[in-house]
Amino acid sequence: MSDLPTYALSEEQELLRATVRELAEAKIAPFAADVDEESRFPREALDALVDNGMHAVHVPEPYGGAGADALSAVLVIEEVARVCASSSLIPAVNKLGSVPVLLAGSEELKRWCLPSLAAGEAMFSYALSEAEAGSDAAGMRTRAVRDGDAYVLDGVKTWITNAGESRFYTVMAVTDPGAGARGISAFVVDRDDEGVSFGPKERKLGIKGSPTRQVILERVRVPEWRRIGAEGTGFKTALATLDHTRVTIAAQALGIAQGALDFAIGYVKERRQFGKPVSDFQGVQFMLADMAMRLEGARQLTYHAAVKSERAMRGERIPDLTLVSSACKALASDVAMDVTTDAVQLLGGYGYTREFPVERMMRDAKITQIYEGTNQIQRMVIARQLLK
Ligand code: CAA
Ligand code: FAD
Repeated sequence: MSDLPTYALSEEQELLRATVRELAEAKIAPFAADVDEESRFPREALDALVDNGMHAVHVPEPYGGAGADALSAVLVIEEVARVCASSSLIPAVNKLGSVPVLLAGSEELKRWCLPSLAAGEAMFSYALSEAEAGSDAAGMRTRAVRDGDAYVLDGVKTWITNAGESRFYTVMAVTDPGAGARGISAFVVDRDDEGVSFGPKERKLGIKGSPTRQVILERVRVPEWRRIGAEGTGFKTALATLDHTRVTIAAQALGIAQGALDFAIGYVKERRQFGKPVSDFQGVQFMLADMAMRLEGARQLTYHAAVKSERAMRGERIPDLTLVSSACKALASDVAMDVTTDAVQLLGGYGYTREFPVERMMRDAKITQIYEGTNQIQRMVIARQLLK
């Protein structure tokens, strides 16, 4: 029989997972409840991630980064999300904000913003959505008007994750109002650019530690060299980016679900009713089995998509990347919502209280079905790929 290589993580990736799990348990988990309760940015997590080089592992080596592959980035996000979903948005959104630059930015632009991201001195956000343009992102109104060797940006980007904390913002804006999606360009805006300000923090159901704010742009002058790629290519770059980063939201969903499952397993073995641990009841066991098998199925699809994302980043044409990235995001987030809801159920009344982390995990899971495109939009993207 021919040698059949095992379909598995590499030794380095297993080691990375174990390292991040240890770090997350020791330095991030102890603050997760407080970060949620106080709706405060997880500063301890940022420090721990930066100190251990885990805040933006995807940045390539020439720009001072670790040059980790997409599957390794997924493992980092998954393990951080297992203890604190808000904190997992640090590596996830650093990647989301900077992939447009990696995909389409000039060398000058890369050298300007990526080294400080890699060093942990600056964070990156991604500003596509607006109040009237969420799912229909191409309907945006933010304008970028050319003025000599610069553009003047005016508009309001809404729901921007880590706004105010990040130094860099990839902003999509209309340069040619008559041209629809082909009239949109992408720019890197610096928090210190004159005319940049932020709205108040949104008061949210979950991921309360991750600030979500408007990015307000009032006559912000952005030099031409900070445009990402050619004029009119910004929307394509924005969507091509999501092909890579929907995989990271799937990773976040997996982590949240795994955290809830792990906690529920520990609990049902301890909790006694009718004279025995509730884990002895088949009704409970079947719930655990369903949670675990659905989670593992979503994980396999996510890792598969991550490998395709990495191959695409290295220049290979991957025709089904759009499909698999949308599929793993929709599947993993739906699984996370179900698994966290079942975890609350398995803790009974205690699960419904803030004494235990599963209610936070259930609230945090919900956002994964909404952002980076709602799960209806993912299904639309998948169907378009199937029918084209
Ligand atoms: N890669 C590259 N180009 C792509 C592409 C892809 N995956 N998908 C489409 N395009 C191109 C198309 O070819 C087309 O270009 P041409 O006209 O030159 O052919 C152009 O982009 C426009 O495409 P569509 O006509 O398909 O665009 P649309 O307006 O019908 O809708 C959409 C596209 C799929 C609905 C898109 O708007 C979408 O994904 N919406 C959801 C918004 C979203 O995901 N927002 C995420 C915000 S970030 C976030 O939420 C942050 C966070 O999680 C922390
Ligand atoms: P809408 O588009 O108004 O959708 C309303 C409902 O209609 C949804 O159920 C939707 O699925 C459904 N719907 C819409 N169109 C269709 C259709 N064609 N077919 C079927 N159903 C449809 N954006 C950024 O750019 N950067 C960020 O960092 C960012 N972070 C976020 C963080 C949080 C906490 C939140 C809540 C949002 C964030 N977003 C961010 C925005 C996010 O991507 C949008 O909220 C999302 O894409 C949905 O847009 P919307 O809220 O306008 O909903």
